[in-house]
Amino acid sequence: MGCVFSLPEDRLVDIDSAQTTRETSFIDKMKKTGRNIVVFYGSQTGTAEEFSNRLAKDAHRYGMKGMSADPEEYDMSELSRLPEIENSLAIFCMATYGEGDPTDNSQDFYDWLHEGDADFTGVKYTVFALGNKTYEHYNAMGKYVDQRMAELGAQRIFDLGMGDDDGNLEEDFVSWREQFWPAVCEHFGVEATGEESSIRQYELKVHSDLNMNKIYTGELGRLKSFENQKPPFDSKNPFLAPVTVNRKLNKAGDRHLMHLELDITGSKIRYESGDHVAVYPINDSVIVNRIGEVLGVDLDTVISLNNLDEESNKKHPFPCPTTYRTALTHYLDITNPPRTNVLYELAQYATDPKEQENMKKMASSSPEGKALYQSWVLDSCRNILAILEDLPSLRPPIDHLCELLPRLQARYYSIASSSKVHPNSIHICAVVVEYQTKTGRVNKGVATNWLKNKTPTDNGHKATVPMYIRKSQFRLPFKSTNPVIMIGPGTGIAPFMGFVQERGWLKEQGKEVGETVLYYGCRHKNEDFLYQEELKEFEKTGVLTELNVAFSRDQTEKVYVQHLLKRNKEAVWRLVHTDNAHIYICGDARYMARDVQNAFYEIAEELGELSQAQAVDYIKKLMTKGRYSQDVWS
Ligand SMILES: Cc1cc2nc3c(=O)[nH]c(=O)nc-3n(C[C@H](O)[C@H](O)[C@H](O)COP(=O)(O)OP(=O)(O)OC[C@H]3O[C@@H](n4cnc5c(N)ncnc54)[C@H](O)[C@@H]3O)c2cc1C
Ligand SMILES: Cc1cc2nc3c(=O)[nH]c(=O)nc-3n(C[C@H](O)[C@H](O)[C@H](O)COP(=O)(O)O)c2cc1C
Repeated sequence: MGCVFSLPEDRLVDIDSAQTTRETSFIDKMKKTGRNIVVFYGSQTGTAEEFSNRLAKDAHRYGMKGMSADPEEYDMSELSRLPEIENSLAIFCMATYGEGDPTDNSQDFYDWLHEGDADFTGVKYTVFALGNKTYEHYNAMGKYVDQRMAELGAQRIFDLGMGDDDGNLEEDFVSWREQFWPAVCEHFGVEATGEESSIRQYELKVHSDLNMNKIYTGELGRLKSFENQKPPFDSKNPFLAPVTVNRKLNKAGDRHLMHLELDITGSKIRYESGDHVAVYPINDSVIVNRIGEVLGVDLDTVISLNNLDEESNKKHPFPCPTTYRTALTHYLDITNPPRTNVLYELAQYATDPKEQENMKKMASSSPEGKALYQSWVLDSCRNILAILEDLPSLRPPIDHLCELLPRLQARYYSIASSSKVHPNSIHICAVVVEYQTKTGRVNKGVATNWLKNKTPTDNGHKATVPMYIRKSQFRLPFKSTNPVIMIGPGTGIAPFMGFVQERGWLKEQGKEVGETVLYYGCRHKNEDFLYQEELKEFEKTGVLTELNVAFSRDQTEKVYVQHLLKRNKEAVWRLVHTDNAHIYICGDARYMARDVQNAFYEIAEELGELSQAQAVDYIKKLMTKGRYSQDVWS
């Protein structure tokens, strides 16, 4: 450890308070710092924020000055004042969530835009939307902001960009950006200033004399918040929940499906069936150590990365001061394939001309470069360590690497319990991610492998998980008499364990409860029929009125939940059309959710005697009425 315990108290205060400086007027800030481009981001898991930072950084190449801004931190009603700044432009990088909803940090902006009647005459803007085609409301937020800004009088200076996370989001962004900047040049009559250059945003400070109590050890917000836990608990202040149960759910097969129970006693955390629990995992120490080894650095060096822009609200890329080890373990994403801007910035450190050329090529917008990035990085699932190993001349300074890597994100899990039955416990049902890459490496999912090892008796210590609750709109019907049809194959069963528990509890309270129908799917009856005993018991006691299970691999032809729905079409149609059933779908967004939706279209078409278009309309109306809800991920 490179630190002693003697930093003067006044300097320590400086370090702490630096994390929380705030100014809510972005116009004042832009004027004060000579900026003319503001890039707002609506981001949940960091991608839109990253794109926003990149666009803000790009601006200097055109003699302009940009700043990236979180709409939650600023007074957005000032947007109409933007024309006070010469040659000004607002860019929005907006991700879509839920069922076409805004991200948490753009919710207030969305509400204000939606309800207000601001006059944006003279405001120039463009939007890049981030979404995923497998979702029903593809890029809904980006489209909305783009359209609403125009309605309120703003001038769109470049067409809406559409990024699809199911395809290659990075490429969509790079291609859009490539055409966007020339359009900006033309619009404002400016020119590119020349060769792209790499500019450091943060300055390294190595601390050799810092009090250990002032060093972040994985906290997300307040220093020592893990030792001294204080409610309310949220994304900046997660609760350390002890793991009380961690058991394997599948009886056989090469996968590991698990059930975990997190104890929230005393935390004042409240949840509802259908909510999500977010957990902050940590990276595998093997990968962290290996990065230190490859780069030849002492990972226990205490450092701060300080923003060179003193006006920025973001003083550090992650909580500082800290060690490289903590940064790589708790704060940085070291397992996803790096984006092209990271390759671009790192290329300068490759001493082998061929390696440098390839890195630059992958970061370029040439078709050859894009294809190389796709195959060498994305298709080969190369993370930063694999890249360092496979490019032996690439040895960047670790502080620059830490500046460039994105933040490690919390993982969400659909809560598999009902708070009516388990008020002090949150259940998770998850599958451990592990796969072999084209390079022969075995990649392991960060959170699931970390959770797998969270055993309740961890050397006599309580194994804990930093967590918070994310509210959802996936809710049982208000009236318990309404029937429900739940479709959740695989780990998609999770929220339905909560729903079924809750319907059982309602029955126990003497409430009349409508039909409770479950469509579950797994590979083999004797292998991965999750919660088989519990579900059979619910069936026996009449809480589950129907348990339909599709065993996909127990016979020669594949059988999935959508096949069972179609097989039971009369009963399904009666529940939906006559009995006002609510339909719920949980699990895989890419294939399952779409196939199930198609099955409902077909059933509506056939039994409702509707045309194809009318059948689609029928199901879409159920969605608008909140009777067709999805909790899906890909
Ligand atoms: C709202 C919501 C609810 C969710 N609920 C649940 C739930 O109840 N249960 C559950 O198990 N999960 C759930 N998830 C998924 C969960 O959040 C995590 O994404 C999942 O557990 C993997 O996390 P990880 O950190 O272990 O893997 P990561 O380290 O994030 O790795 C996963 C990534 O690895 C890559 N990958 C995985 N397999 C392969 C392969 N074969 N080939 C190539 N690349 C591959 C993919 O890029 C994938 O995104 C939910 C997600 C959301 C958004
Ligand atoms: C739970 C969940 C729900 C999503 N819902 C939508 C959606 O309704 N429409 C859409 O286009 N994309 C949807 N997406 C995709 C995200 O918008 C996309 O992955 C985006 O790149 C995330 O950006 P961020 O990292 O800045 O939050 C969803 C993603 C998740 C994980």
